[in-house]
Amino acid sequence: MELLRVEDYDALSRAAANRVGRLIASRPGAVLGLPTGETPLGMYRELVGRVREGRLDVSAAIAFSLDEFHGLPPEHPASFCSFLRRHFFEPAGIPPSRTRCLCGDAPDPEAECAVHEAAIAAAGGIDLQVLGIGRNGHIGYNEPGTPFSSRAHVAPLAPETREAAAAAFGAFELVPLRGVTLGIQSILAARQVMLLASGAEKAGAVKAALRGPVTPEVPASALQGHPALTVVVDAAAAALL
Ligand code: GLP
Repeated sequence: MELLRVEDYDALSRAAANRVGRLIASRPGAVLGLPTGETPLGMYRELVGRVREGRLDVSAAIAFSLDEFHGLPPEHPASFCSFLRRHFFEPAGIPPSRTRCLCGDAPDPEAECAVHEAAIAAAGGIDLQVLGIGRNGHIGYNEPGTPFSSRAHVAPLAPETREAAAAAFGAFELVPLRGVTLGIQSILAARQVMLLASGAEKAGAVKAALRGPVTPEVPASALQGHPALTVVVDAAAAALL
């Protein structure tokens, strides 16, 4: 594991963008697995800035989303699909034909999961999977207790996860009860994984993930077994390491 401890959120965003930028420079058609949330926002901003300045060209990359709220149409403003389009795909110039987002309101969600996995396989597998981490140690929507052998699936969301998403929906009760997510096995299949964590509220999860026992109770602890894991943490998130 490569552990990059950086000062603050801006440094984390730059370090994460550097890693993506290096991959794209060496392999313009690289396959990216991409998360949503507050944590990667700065990385997307940084990458888009580099594209606008002509220092980076991501237009040949292929991108797959990591997870989605179950039941939400892709065009819903709170969907992860619209997040990725708004914050990265469109401003960075990755054409829709080179992106695929898990569709939250597919009539058969398990079939949608299988199609997403098959599309990833057809693209040659994920070169770099970027991840955030939940306060309870979740990755994607793999909540505590998810088997490490899981592939893409429909997953119940933990109350604390729904609480964290309440603002986007206006109220806790309006947050979907389930998510659709790449599984832990799907994530571990990526050739490189980069986990990002920022802020004191993630410090406990980061410690449990990296220093604690490898257990389904801490989904991110599965990453300890990945041969090419990079962890980028700011000082607050690294406080308990
Ligand atoms: C959500 C997402 C995860 C993300 C996590 C952390 O639950 N489904 O993929 O990693 O939140 O989000 P944030 O970066 O906003 O703290």
